[in-house]
Amino acid sequence: MKSLEELQRIKEAQLEAIRLREADQKAKIVVGMGTCGIAAGAREVMSAILDELGKRRLTGVAVTQTGCIGLCAQEPLVDVILPGKPRVTYGKVDASKARQIVAQHIVNGIVISEWVVNRGEE
Ligand code: FES
Repeated sequence: MKSLEELQRIKEAQLEAIRLREADQKAKIVVGMGTCGIAAGAREVMSAILDELGKRRLTGVAVTQTGCIGLCAQEPLVDVILPGKPRVTYGKVDASKARQIVAQHIVNGIVISEWVVNRGEE
């Protein structure tokens, strides 16, 4: 018979595992904010994404930024990673494209192929 304390510990550990799994399951949007990304308008892209997510009350999406990813000519770059799907990189994103990416890719799961510059591994 396990002690109450021991059972409590097991429960905590399981809850923690579930939380970690859920965190992993989140959709992710990564905006390239290297020097040339910012020069090309990455700040406007980032605020359009945050604004669109807010308007749609989408809370299950993690938005982060990254530095230079070596594709200057394609900046601003936006990565979208849906749980269990390969990373999709969009190039030459502006505020209006960013909003459409949220609407189509994040909400509907439809990749906007004409703006994709790279598709990665899972
Ligand atoms: S800062 Fe643009 S590719 Fe490096």
